Amino acid sequence: MTAQLIDGKLIAQQVREEVAAAVAKRTAAGKTKPTLATVLVGDRPDSAAYVTSKGKACQELGMGSVSEHLPADATQEQVEALVRKLNANKGISGILVQLPMPSHIDEERVLSLINIEKDVDGFSPLNIGRLAQKGREPLFVPCTPYGCIYLLEKSGVKIEGANAVVLGRSNIVGMPAALLLIGKNATVTVCHSRTKDLPGTVRQADIVIAAIGRTEMVRGDWVKPGAAVIDVGINAVPDATKKSGQRLVGDVNFAEAKEVAGFITPVPGGVGPMTIAMLMKNTFRAAEIQNP
Ligand code: GUN
Repeated sequence: MTAQLIDGKLIAQQVREEVAAAVAKRTAAGKTKPTLATVLVGDRPDSAAYVTSKGKACQELGMGSVSEHLPADATQEQVEALVRKLNANKGISGILVQLPMPSHIDEERVLSLINIEKDVDGFSPLNIGRLAQKGREPLFVPCTPYGCIYLLEKSGVKIEGANAVVLGRSNIVGMPAALLLIGKNATVTVCHSRTKDLPGTVRQADIVIAAIGRTEMVRGDWVKPGAAVIDVGINAVPDATKKSGQRLVGDVNFAEAKEVAGFITPVPGGVGPMTIAMLMKNTFRAAEIQNP
């Protein structure tokens, strides 16, 4: 192995400890307790597990959490009414609407309703718009891309002037990751299903962010020697040696890429734990913005 392993679990734990200390200081000063409201519409088991972990993290860090759950057949009006109620509730610092929602719900309309000061996921058009514009700052940066950049910076990877390749252009990861990298003066290429020469494009990259949702697609011979590889993928593959019958792997073939890369994140234990850590940071920030 030549690559330095980027330990997301450890770095996420450090972020969580910093947030917990800041929360303790804030509440000791008699200020409001940062509180996150999660909204789950429907019963997707993965989404239910994510909102449970987010609520648990809040409690572990001394923050409040409220979990709202609407049935899968909730109407657009019901979801919007819930967001309006949470916007108006002074006891709620941040609102997180878990995605994806059932297909009959217009996600964009729901996200655009969230008060920008409570938009801890950074998905409202106002926050994304600010992220996309020069000289403007979003109030909140989407948690997974924020975690990716945090890992690069903590590991001492130089972003300014680097050639960065982002695989995937989703609203949640790929697109905001590309915008963040541009904001930090990288030269960014965003690849997707119609990119012509994926291996050749990735080979130019000093920084690769893989968020394409394809099991171990990035091979070792795609990676430029010394590159920093951030793997956002979480894909289950069958594994008879595990009790669950499966194990998780990323969008990068780790065994191959670690022999070539300079830095690499593992799956699990890389980007995954960072998403919730950054959400906790954003929720604390929301409380500070609303009640300094
Ligand atoms: N679904 C997958 N990732 C996320 C996330 O970071 N936030 C929300 N709200 N939904 C998601």
